Amino acid sequence: MATTSCGIDFGTSNSSVAVARNGHISLVPVEGDHLTTPSAIFFQRKGNLPFYGRKAVDLFFDRQDGRFMRSLKRVLGTSLMKQGTAVNGKPMRFERIIAPFLKNLKDKTDVYCGEEVEHVVMGRPVHFIDNDPDADRQAQLELKTIAEQVGFKHIEFQFEPIAAAFAHEINIRGEKLAIVVDLGGGTSDFTVIRLSNQYINKKDRASDILANTGVRVGGNDFDKDLSLAAVMPEIGYQTTYGEKDLEVPLKPYHDLAEWSKVNFLYTTKIISQTRQILYQSHDKTRYERLLKVLEKEMGHTLLSATEETKIALTLQEEYQTPFDFIEEGLHIHVKRTQFEAAIQNRIEKISASATECLQKAQVKSEDIQLVILTGGSTEVPAVQTEFKRLFPNAAVADENKLSSVGLGLAYDSQNKFGK
Ligand SMILES: Nc1ncnc2c1ncn2[C@@H]1O[C@H](COP(=O)(O)OP(=O)(O)OP(=O)(O)O)[C@@H](O)[C@H]1O
Ligand SMILES: [Mg+2]
Repeated sequence: MATTSCGIDFGTSNSSVAVARNGHISLVPVEGDHLTTPSAIFFQRKGNLPFYGRKAVDLFFDRQDGRFMRSLKRVLGTSLMKQGTAVNGKPMRFERIIAPFLKNLKDKTDVYCGEEVEHVVMGRPVHFIDNDPDADRQAQLELKTIAEQVGFKHIEFQFEPIAAAFAHEINIRGEKLAIVVDLGGGTSDFTVIRLSNQYINKKDRASDILANTGVRVGGNDFDKDLSLAAVMPEIGYQTTYGEKDLEVPLKPYHDLAEWSKVNFLYTTKIISQTRQILYQSHDKTRYERLLKVLEKEMGHTLLSATEETKIALTLQEEYQTPFDFIEEGLHIHVKRTQFEAAIQNRIEKISASATECLQKAQVKSEDIQLVILTGGSTEVPAVQTEFKRLFPNAAVADENKLSSVGLGLAYDSQNKFGK
């Protein structure tokens, strides 16, 4: 019997799994009927019981007692991995947090297949960490160790943008030179690749893959920029205090704007420092909101409202976000132009990484016939404008934005582990 194998796209924001079984590729319902699940975990205080995905998000927003985490992938390869974090009062290493999340995906896969799936191709960004090959290797090793812990016996890795290319290849007649633009929550990844539906079962694709590049910039960074530009000023960011007109400490604001750091802020030390500064604040109304956010542990709620604003600005030119959870009637009005100004540097970095990919592949932008857009952040209008500018003549393919990486990893698993 042919080996059943799977591909896991463990994303910064969303995860999916696809299986290759008897020559067929299909997505696994990883949460109820859903084919993708938020990469979020909630440890209920009582018994430290873990919940995943939408359920985790719901429990957190229902204000259940416990600890909520998102953007776990961003921790791989960083010093936080060893440091760990306190979960419901007890120190916990991040592998003990990521492992149950992956185990849950594996369990769903095994149930779907009616057998234990032991062969996996895990997706990985081109760079987990920028300009640090050692940290990058470390990140992959950490992910591999966790995959072993949850029961996989044969583990391979594939770059996420290459996987996305494989998922689109089935629709491509004749040979096409394509660039994959995969902009997710944590990273932006690019591949220049020759595609054709004739190549699907070709074992060795090395000569078709002309170059890969990637940068640790993604939708999480857009949230951060938008937060610092439009939301944090309303809770006292860059206000002053005391006789010397000192600026209030920036760190709490920066951490509140970063998905993977929000949880580290609710310490008695930071809260008492904030309380002391409040006495001497020159903008007590706004600064007091910071104290409330810290005391009530509302960082994730604040950042979710910011992300919601960002997503709304994809369809609308302006948006009014309610912040009633901080103060009755408080809302923040943001224009798309403001958001675009805030993320301009990030767009330049993303664009530079795409250009570097062309250079490494030794092709000109005019040579590209197809631009494959994948990942949630390719929805951002400023991103789309930039890629139209870079590739004015290319066709655009953008189906299955949230599941093409998972599907492509399963195609790759079939090639790697198939008989
Ligand atoms: N309509 C939209 N407009 C703007 N941004 C969006 C939209 N929909 C989703 N996003 C953003 O896309 C990101 C998630 O994309 P995706 O699910 O592709 O990431 P991921 O695969 O989990 O991350 P990565 O590949 O970087 O590990 C989030 O930052 C989310 O806010
Ligand atoms: Mg992704």
